[in-house]
Amino acid sequence: MHNLESILTENRVFPPNPDFAAKARIGSRAAYDALVAEATSDYEGFWARQAREWLTWDQPFQTVLDESKAPHYRWFGDGKLNASVNCIDRHLPAKAKKTAIIAEADDGSVRTISYQQLHDQVAQMANGLKSLGITKGDRVIIYLPMIPEASVAMLACARIGAIHSVVFGGFSAEALRDRINDTGAKLVITADGGMRGGRAVPLKTAVDKAIEHGCPSVERVVMLERLGNDSATIVDGRDVLWSQLTADQPTTCEPVSVESEHPLFLLYTSGSTGKPKGVQHSTGGYLLNAILTNAWVFDLKDDDVYWCTADVGWITGHSYVTYGPLALGVTQVIFEGVPSYPDGGRFWRMVQDHKVSVFYTAPTAIRALMKLGDEVPKQYDLSSLRLLGTVGEPINPEAWMWYHRVIGGERCPIADTWWQTETGAHMIAPLPGAIPTKPGSCTLPLPGIMADIVDDDGAPIGPNQGGNLVIKRPWPSMIRTVWGDDARFQRSYFPETLKGYYLAGDSARRDDDGYFWIMGRIDDVLNVSGHRLGTMEIESALVAHPAVAEAAVVGRPHDIKGEAVVAFVVCKGERPQGADAEAMIKTLRDWVAEQIGPIAKPDEIRFGDNLPKTRSGKIMRRLLRGIAKGELPQGDVSTLENPAILEQLMGQ
Ligand code: PRX
Repeated sequence: MHNLESILTENRVFPPNPDFAAKARIGSRAAYDALVAEATSDYEGFWARQAREWLTWDQPFQTVLDESKAPHYRWFGDGKLNASVNCIDRHLPAKAKKTAIIAEADDGSVRTISYQQLHDQVAQMANGLKSLGITKGDRVIIYLPMIPEASVAMLACARIGAIHSVVFGGFSAEALRDRINDTGAKLVITADGGMRGGRAVPLKTAVDKAIEHGCPSVERVVMLERLGNDSATIVDGRDVLWSQLTADQPTTCEPVSVESEHPLFLLYTSGSTGKPKGVQHSTGGYLLNAILTNAWVFDLKDDDVYWCTADVGWITGHSYVTYGPLALGVTQVIFEGVPSYPDGGRFWRMVQDHKVSVFYTAPTAIRALMKLGDEVPKQYDLSSLRLLGTVGEPINPEAWMWYHRVIGGERCPIADTWWQTETGAHMIAPLPGAIPTKPGSCTLPLPGIMADIVDDDGAPIGPNQGGNLVIKRPWPSMIRTVWGDDARFQRSYFPETLKGYYLAGDSARRDDDGYFWIMGRIDDVLNVSGHRLGTMEIESALVAHPAVAEAAVVGRPHDIKGEAVVAFVVCKGERPQGADAEAMIKTLRDWVAEQIGPIAKPDEIRFGDNLPKTRSGKIMRRLLRGIAKGELPQGDVSTLENPAILEQLMGQ
């Protein structure tokens, strides 16, 4: 990681702002310590208490944690509940008129949706889904822009016990098809398109193409008319308009009470090998950590205006847009567009206009906006802000300090939240009224989260040494399995050498104060603009092109994106050079965008007659990583079968 050196020398400490702490839900180190002590002395009792306090159960649970099928842990197994009731209905007696969502579209137009309206829309959609034959346990793919209807669709599924799987709108038809087929979804909910940065982004065409390329399970497609420009084709008998499906439906829909372990959703994420894995989350346990962390880490209260900039296509959008904030009953902003449109002041103007008090975004956005200079945010009144958050990748201290100084006015605590698709919710993050922060550190584990750093045999590692980040005890919102592949779940997250600890796949170190510093992935997963991409996935996409014989993909540090994608490609026939190389680079970049999505496009492609390999034929990625950084590999290359290839790859 390029930030490692600056992180290692970072020693600034920012104690909690006393004004903030005085009003915070958890306002002192002693309060944090007490929760940690409670969880340590009575782990199950601690989680049972939280689950009873924060969630509304239709049938109370008696069993807390069931380890009999470990590592497929079960939480609150005999309890029953409904996620949409927890996110909507239970707020209605007191908050029917309260704004649930302030939705700002790409063009700046704003809609507000009250909790009552959200209820009615969700009920109508849930009834619509039922009319299409969707019932408990059916999988539904959601492929929508970042608009409130995405949350409505998710909650409508939850209302009837259908399992949703949201696919990020930036993924291509091919990537969408793979996900549809892995889930065996009967239904796809999409839109004609979305708007991003003034441009229409088609979505329905990708759904049509995916289905054309083979999605045998899909029976129906629901299409929201977001653009309303007749750009999409409607397939008779298969497609139905959202407006038609919901128009005559009643605004009430009896919620289906599901077992706590019933899967609430599947969300695909990249691993080091094979196709993306469908991370399966539960209903009760997932919802508990989602709501709890919004309360603890973001200190969300009734009068907050909260804004998480993540897309619902990622886990951050699930836990910190749809489920967590709504379960807490707060008002939140949902934004369709991009931070740079119509100009780089968009985020800050929106903070000002909607009086946002808690703001959560990714380091990549912070770095990009920081580059535009202090003058841009200084044009806006950011005094409504009281807390800032970051997620998705390590934040370099320089970006942290800018966020703190220019956006937070040196008054707002920063919650650097470490977690993953698989963890469901924040795991390591400062409780802002209790824990002093250090730029670049996600600080301490949340109460009840037994995070540690161990060596490859599971033995503890002392301070200031890098090791494997693990979580030693199961927690409620943990991944339950990889959809359809229990063996892969066990292999990826609970390797035999690690004594039953959950292996996060990150390396980290702890400093003398016990603070965690995330160093990066230990596997072949890249983090590009906070998005996880498997190098294998991009390699598979490249070699699927008829002109490509072989490909290896590595990451290279990038100022804004964190990591850039560098591909080393061997073509069939002659190695392309000059104008041929240029043309082939464009072809392959477009190809990867088509196979996976624009986020996976290689930033750089180098062509070789071959790739550096050991005599046994293994590609030496360590050398490729060096070359990608512009460093001619030093040291022992004697195991290389073809050392001359290094010069060739370097020279481009
Ligand atoms: O490497 C860690 C990095 O993002 C990975 C998880 O990616 P994903 O499942 O897509 O979820 C992203 C949103 C939670 C982790 O394994 N990561 C996430 N948050 C941080 C981070 N790295 C450093 N600091 C963070 N705060």
